[in-house]
Amino acid sequence: MTRLTKSPPVTADQVSDSAPSARPAGAAGRTNGRAETGNGHPVAPLSVATAPAGPAGIKLFDKCRAYDVPQKIKAAGVWTYFRAIESAQDPEVSIDGHKLVMLGSNNYLGLTNDPRVKEAAIDAVRKFGTGCAGSRFLNGTMTIHEELEEKLADFMGKEAAVTFATGFQVNLGTIACLVDRRDVVYLDKQDHACIIDGARLGLGDTRKFRHNDASDLRRQMLADNALPPARRPAGRLVVVDGVYSMEGDICHLPEVNAVCKEFGAALMVDDAHGIGVLGAGGRGTAEHFGLDDDAHLIMGTFSKALASVGGFVCGDAETMHFVKHRARTNVFSAAPSPANVAAASAAVDIVRNEPERRAVLWRNTRFMLDGLRSLGFDTGESGTPVIPVVVGADHTAFQMATRLQELGVFVNAVVSPATPPGRALLRTSYMATHTEAHLSFALDQFAKAGREFGLIG
Ligand SMILES: Cc1ncc(COP(=O)(O)O)c(C=O)c1O
Repeated sequence: MTRLTKSPPVTADQVSDSAPSARPAGAAGRTNGRAETGNGHPVAPLSVATAPAGPAGIKLFDKCRAYDVPQKIKAAGVWTYFRAIESAQDPEVSIDGHKLVMLGSNNYLGLTNDPRVKEAAIDAVRKFGTGCAGSRFLNGTMTIHEELEEKLADFMGKEAAVTFATGFQVNLGTIACLVDRRDVVYLDKQDHACIIDGARLGLGDTRKFRHNDASDLRRQMLADNALPPARRPAGRLVVVDGVYSMEGDICHLPEVNAVCKEFGAALMVDDAHGIGVLGAGGRGTAEHFGLDDDAHLIMGTFSKALASVGGFVCGDAETMHFVKHRARTNVFSAAPSPANVAAASAAVDIVRNEPERRAVLWRNTRFMLDGLRSLGFDTGESGTPVIPVVVGADHTAFQMATRLQELGVFVNAVVSPATPPGRALLRTSYMATHTEAHLSFALDQFAKAGREFGLIG
């Protein structure tokens, strides 16, 4: 076993340096390092570069050479990111020839390795090939995109849906195109990074309210009402996660919805972790609260319960028509690939037709929530298959994730800034395909590691 107590400490500062950049996607990517004309076409350089060949000597890259946080964590022997898995995202995975119980996957319904989903993807490759060779707007729309959009709209009980190549692109494109000058977008402080980046790309103002605190949202709406008329918001959009991705707590949607109604704000729910999981029909957080009609826009990803890659947003026909034509991540980016579309489509059918999968997922969730809490772990406010084990310091999260890997359990260490400072956690998540034997084994290893680290008695 790694001598964990002798590991050099890894500080929160180092980790926040190591986290993905918070810069808006467009700011870094617009020119791709080349000169561009106003309309985005590359132009030939006007003079020959005088700097040495390669990145050395180029000022821009200084930060890259100085960036050594991962190296420090690796040197401490507690690096658990970018682990290469040699098998499918099943309840057991293989890494370096060792079997681990997987408690770190978003494959909630266990469908990524389902033969029906795989066959659908293979059939789509046979018929449509491996790529769409363009954006939906121009040449990339295939019949399966339109079929899936109709199926998603029908499943979610909305008039229309638009698919994108990733969930991240859904939020970037949708929020940015809807929030215009003089509009305001209100975000929960724990909203996913792509919601924050979407708001940054929009031309309006952004306000952030305290996590899951509708009274703080209301306070900010009132403050905006008190602005001089010329500065008052023209339109308002509230964007929340249905299920918060790191701690698995459910949005207080009825309270948020009441504020939206009071101030005439549009409500958008990012239900990446709710669709397929929450609600009797698997339609997510809005269904769970009986608010399907109140959530004007619901976005989902294919990369979790829907066993694929891609995403969608659904809502009323006119708004979807606008998003389809104006969201830059849809118009200027490639259409989701045939295999991804077909896999997601097969997964939607299974979500609809096999509610028993959801029932097993919830049985597993309750088993683990009860098990971890009765061992004495702090599992926050989770009420979903995403269950955090709060450990406090970032270095404890790194060390304990490493120890659990040695003991045969895969968990994700989540540290600041993805969590508030001092609230590092091990993010665990569950699948309908975990058996009680997998889960009991994991609990035993958690008990062992938790005692070693003094987290439980
Ligand atoms: C809440 C939330 N929204 C959006 C996304 C982005 O989805 P995708 O992985 O499809 O880009 C994620 C992914 O982690 C997420 O957790």
